Amino acid sequence: MQRLLTGLQSSGALHIGNYFGVLKPFAEMYDTYESYLMVADYHAVTSLRDPAALRQNIFNVVKDYMAVGVEPSKCIIFQQSQVHEHTEMAWIFECLVTVPFLELSHAYKDKVAKGLEANAGLFNYPMLMAADILLYDTDVVPVGEDQRQHLEYAREAAAKFNNAYGETFKEPKELINKQIAIIPGTDGKKMSKSYGNTIPLFGSKDEIAKAVMSIVTDSSGQRPENVYQIHKNFRSESELATIYEANKGSYKALKEALIADIENLVAPMREKRNSITDDEVRRVLKEGSDKAREYAAKKMTDVRQKVGVSLI
Ligand code: TYM
Repeated sequence: MQRLLTGLQSSGALHIGNYFGVLKPFAEMYDTYESYLMVADYHAVTSLRDPAALRQNIFNVVKDYMAVGVEPSKCIIFQQSQVHEHTEMAWIFECLVTVPFLELSHAYKDKVAKGLEANAGLFNYPMLMAADILLYDTDVVPVGEDQRQHLEYAREAAAKFNNAYGETFKEPKELINKQIAIIPGTDGKKMSKSYGNTIPLFGSKDEIAKAVMSIVTDSSGQRPENVYQIHKNFRSESELATIYEANKGSYKALKEALIADIENLVAPMREKRNSITDDEVRRVLKEGSDKAREYAAKKMTDVRQKVGVSLI
């Protein structure tokens, strides 16, 4: 069986971009692979310095996945910080790549341009992500389009290590749903926790409505493009054509139609999510992190030997 791994940063409430980009595709395919689902809590530390919020977000990411239908008994759900081998491996990769190479990262440049602090953790981010993936001999990584370059970084880290120390890491492939690509936020740019332009996946009905009503509309075209680009993930083109024709010029009515479609999708999942307790999440993460650690530790023993720090 092929191995699949993906991760989400616990840096804020998940949004409908995360849902269509990765939660939904993951939920549809994870049980046909040996699947690992990681809460990237150390990645979140690059931007979040509120311990209570980070703790809460970790619970929330797992609840969100379980609410969309992921069964913990059919995959390994774990916490990045609880498998110390990830940060250890990231250090070794950081010693193999150059600063100019990391400077090419779109995600880094983008985040700094948006006002995030350019701390060294943010800069080294792709090497921690490479460690996340490569430690498990991962074959495929389902992600949104915005993570494509991170997969290139991971392959490059694998190749650099293999060249220096001998064949050790498998080069993973990204699995990106072309039709989804990037879900735009309320301002028309990529929907992102760090840009404050999200529609929360598990917000209350009022929170979702408020976010949709704030979508920036531009009256120059035939239809409110920013609304449409989100809406097309919920309905077929022909259904949307009818709705958008009937409500031509009434952006409020079109936004209300989008709110109703989001609510239809989210309501049953919200109910399921409310039934998942923190204790259940603790149990799932403990069990998953123990299993992940077992695999990563074996790989790391081999790596330490190859690098020359192991004296046995
Ligand atoms: P993160 O937490 O930013 O996003 C999680 C996943 O959601 C997808 N996504 C989107 N897809 C479509 N449209 C959007 N607007 C949108 N916003 C986010 C992302 O592509 C991603 O798949 N670096 C990763 C987390 C990570 C990881 C890993 C992923 C850490 N280690 C190992 C895979 C494997 C990230 O920041 O994702």
